[in-house]
Amino acid sequence: MSKTILVTGGTGYIGSHTCVELIQAGYEVVIVDNLYNSSKAVLKRIETITGVLPKFYQVDILDREGLEKVFEENHLDAVIHFAGYKAVGESVKIPLTYYQNNIAGSLNLYETMKKHHVYHLVFSSSATVYGDPASVPIRENFPLSTTNPYGTTKLYNEQILKDLAHSDENFSIVLLRYFNPIGAHKSGLIGEVPNGIPNNLLPYIAQVAIGKREYLSVFGNDYDTVDGTGVRDYIHVVDLAKGHLKALEYADKRKGIDAVNLGTGHGYSVLQVKDAFAKASGKEIAYKIVERRPGDIAECYADTSKAKEVLGWQAEYDIETMCQDSWRFQSQNPDGIND
Ligand code: NAD
Ligand code: UFG
Repeated sequence: MSKTILVTGGTGYIGSHTCVELIQAGYEVVIVDNLYNSSKAVLKRIETITGVLPKFYQVDILDREGLEKVFEENHLDAVIHFAGYKAVGESVKIPLTYYQNNIAGSLNLYETMKKHHVYHLVFSSSATVYGDPASVPIRENFPLSTTNPYGTTKLYNEQILKDLAHSDENFSIVLLRYFNPIGAHKSGLIGEVPNGIPNNLLPYIAQVAIGKREYLSVFGNDYDTVDGTGVRDYIHVVDLAKGHLKALEYADKRKGIDAVNLGTGHGYSVLQVKDAFAKASGKEIAYKIVERRPGDIAECYADTSKAKEVLGWQAEYDIETMCQDSWRFQSQNPDGIND
């Protein structure tokens, strides 16, 4: 019998791609999302890609009764928990809102899981929990720290889940620390829809390419990197999604809690990404070098050996494919995902 997976935040960027991979692998999917940062139209897009319309609850994870109903009405085998707020800069301005949503909401979910004896969990963590790493590539056993409230909500969730796993040996939890997800499904039907002016590099470049923004501001070219601009480990969102299926299998095989990096292991600079995107889109990307962005680090890329070893997973798509797929989504959906 196929397994049923609850996907919180399942209409969002990474969640929707993961739902597609889950359905295509034969899982039943139940989505919980309050549609704060996504649209119901994503459900039909998932159906167009997979032939299956996922079961959907418009529920806020802060709503304990709403969550109860989902757990009562479905026999759930595992949870993948994506729901949360994710804007670093915004989290500095409204930290309590971030703690409320990302911590209190998650606590509701974990309590409901325990009550209903649903013990397998995959949690969306982030490379941000490594703070400013002393060296690269970053391994899972590096010291953890954060520089903003968003990052702190990820670190606290990790700690809460460690305590939970230690208190109850039924639990089997995988913390996935994502590096920089970009790209989109090859159909061009689902992808990242930034809210307002994009904070992240790829959606910003895509909007310059399509003519919505005049130029890219490159935040500093005096870092100690290949060309002075910031280096990150960009990973295709479909590779990332597939990593979640491997994490579910890993959770089936063992008990306790473990953290795993999901990245490619390769770093690209801002200017290298800009050039790759220009090539993929055939558009010139105007840019200006400006001041460093406060809080940014020079270089961040993953040591991927643990993911290979424990999950049997590694990223497959290269930066050219990531840019081509981002561009396809952006040009097919200039106004986002609507009915
Ligand atoms: P997203 O905003 O596209 O998806 C998150 C989804 O959660 C949205 O659909 C939103 O409506 C929903 N949501 C938010 N609060 C909710 C609540 N209280 N109840 C129900 N639904 C709620 O973001 P994403 O890029 O897909 O990120 C998914 C997860 O991965 C997040 O936890 C994020 O912090 C983490 N992550 C993202 C990145 C990245 O660069 N995108 C990097 C590292 C980690
Ligand atoms: N950058 C620019 N101009 C822009 C946007 C970004 O030059 O307009 C540069 C940044 O300075 C950085 C690189 O592009 O060097 C990547 O920046 P992003 O904002 O796309 O990504 P970050 O690595 O800063 O942050 C991402 C997620 C965070 C997460 C972090 C670590 O947005 O949520 O990775 O995982 F915490």
